Amino acid sequence: MEVFRDRKTLRDYIERNKEMGKTIGFAPTMGALHKGHLSLYELARKHNDLVISSIFVNPTQFNNPEDLKKYPRNVEQDIQLLKKSGFVDAVYIPEISDIYPEGAISRHYDFDGLEHEMEGSFRPGHFDGVGTVVEELLRQVKPDNAYFGEKDFQQLAIIRKMVKNRKLHVKIHGVPIVREESGLAFSSRNERLNAKEREAATVIHTTLIKVNDWFRVMTVSEIKKRVQDIFDDLRGFKLEYFIIADEETLKETDFYYKDRPYRAFIAVYVGDVRLIDNMHMD
Ligand code: PAF
Repeated sequence: MEVFRDRKTLRDYIERNKEMGKTIGFAPTMGALHKGHLSLYELARKHNDLVISSIFVNPTQFNNPEDLKKYPRNVEQDIQLLKKSGFVDAVYIPEISDIYPEGAISRHYDFDGLEHEMEGSFRPGHFDGVGTVVEELLRQVKPDNAYFGEKDFQQLAIIRKMVKNRKLHVKIHGVPIVREESGLAFSSRNERLNAKEREAATVIHTTLIKVNDWFRVMTVSEIKKRVQDIFDDLRGFKLEYFIIADEETLKETDFYYKDRPYRAFIAVYVGDVRLIDNMHMD
């Protein structure tokens, strides 16, 4: 597996492979890799001649400096995991100046309102940061296909919108959430939970399962109340938001309209670690 630590060596590699007519699959990450990431590479491996990943903790998408400081970083361990997986041909680990030659500032995007829902309203500027880094990485890596996890479902919707609006020639693939045996969604942030918190955090998934049972037999406001009660009763947890939204518009719904796709979204603090999860309602 090749490791590129600057933009120039990556560019030569991409050009060489494009000239040979190879297709490229790309999965950008912020490192602290886990099985959720491996599922992106596994799918990319099936569709493409070459699979490239990137590891870059993007400062512009963190609205909270503490969160940026505490974000888990273990690049050497990540490289070993990528090598061992056998799915990835090259990893790009850029310097900040390779992505932001003029300083770490985000571009401003209009994502047709998607950016104002959920994460957007609690993390101001977050999606401008995500849009900026993903657009830049897509322009540098020039993939035919790019892969993003559905755990960040809103991010996935925003990236699809950005690719369409900016007319980028890449197909975006969403990859289903991968869960630990306990049901907890794999996340780099799980590393910051202690053993007790990690076990307790499984309540997020069990709550979503309950919500799926309640949906269509209870009103949305009744469901919201029940979810709030679950987290109010748990020490060390703070529910930031819980909504049921239309999967396409990401607008919160108060009612169930037949034939529309719905998904429940949740953001919870476990101690000082913020976790998100979601589930399609069927
Ligand atoms: O999902 C992530 O890990 C990040 O938001 C991404 C897409 C790599 C952009 O920094």
